[in-house]
Amino acid sequence: MNIIPYSIDMKITAIACSNIALVKYWGKRDELLKLPQNNSISITLNNLQTKTTVDFDNRYEEDIYIINGKKVEQQSEIKRLNTYINLLRQQKGVKTPVKMQTESNFPTAAGLASSASGFAALTVAGSKALELTLSDTELSILARRGSGSACRSIFGGFVEWKKGQKSDGSDSYAVQIASSHHWDIQLLVIITELSKKSISSTKGMQSTVKTSPFYQGWLDSIEFDLEKVRTGILNKDFKLVGESSEHNCLKMHSLMMTSSPSMIYWNETTLKLLKNIQTWRAEGLNCYFTIDAGPNIIILCLKSDVDAIKDHIQNINNIKNIIQCSPGPAPRLSEQHLF
Ligand code: PMV
Repeated sequence: MNIIPYSIDMKITAIACSNIALVKYWGKRDELLKLPQNNSISITLNNLQTKTTVDFDNRYEEDIYIINGKKVEQQSEIKRLNTYINLLRQQKGVKTPVKMQTESNFPTAAGLASSASGFAALTVAGSKALELTLSDTELSILARRGSGSACRSIFGGFVEWKKGQKSDGSDSYAVQIASSHHWDIQLLVIITELSKKSISSTKGMQSTVKTSPFYQGWLDSIEFDLEKVRTGILNKDFKLVGESSEHNCLKMHSLMMTSSPSMIYWNETTLKLLKNIQTWRAEGLNCYFTIDAGPNIIILCLKSDVDAIKDHIQNINNIKNIIQCSPGPAPRLSEQHLF
């Protein structure tokens, strides 16, 4: 594509929600294009949000990235953002430098999919600032290139990422299964640790695909999990969604644990909570858990049980915070810029 001189002077801000996968994505078939080995299903989380302002302007001498108030200095992080911003610029055929500032209202990189809300917000703000006219499907494909799970955050409610078959990734994008109003399932995000996780999802997935003896079993059983969770969502069958999600989460963590070297993302509080949730359930409380690549737990429950669950959690030490979420909306633009 020819690089044409183009002067853009538009500051755009977008807000996107994170999402939690009930059937997880763990393993890529193409690293560069971020194509997954399997479909995944998630819920967009209304109260875990990232706000991003972008400004493409020739008055900047170089690209500037500010995340949660700090200028990004780490080379690997700069490289990841540059690669993505260059992809956006290529779509328009420009080389204009960008200033990007982003803020999340929850701990980043601790297994709470801040990259999902981050790249979804950046995709929406960046494409608007560059005046690209993209469909939701095209936005989802673009967001996927930033972080796989970000392609699901382009949609609100209940979402499935179709892994696709094509080598160029043009059929690997998310679709909405049901809107955020379909079912008021509750998600209690229990934060047990605020620090960054030690192994990135990218590295963790690579290691698992190469070394876990159970990876083929994961792939062979994924259709079964997808079918149950999809049906459970459409029928609002809480038991089916809860049981299938918890099982899928434990399968993913078993893959991590049986990789070489072994990866254990949990801490003592994660394990304690996990065991307690199973006990509370046996005692009649309607709740299930899911955990991403980190130590924080997300409890799935119905509105009627939220207070009882919170009461139980009060008795567990070392909980840093609880964020209650419902199925959330698709990304939106905001007039309130960060700079
Ligand atoms: O999109 P990434 O690279 O942040 O990977 C996400 C991986 C999990 O959160 C563990 C699972 C998922 O499907 O979101």
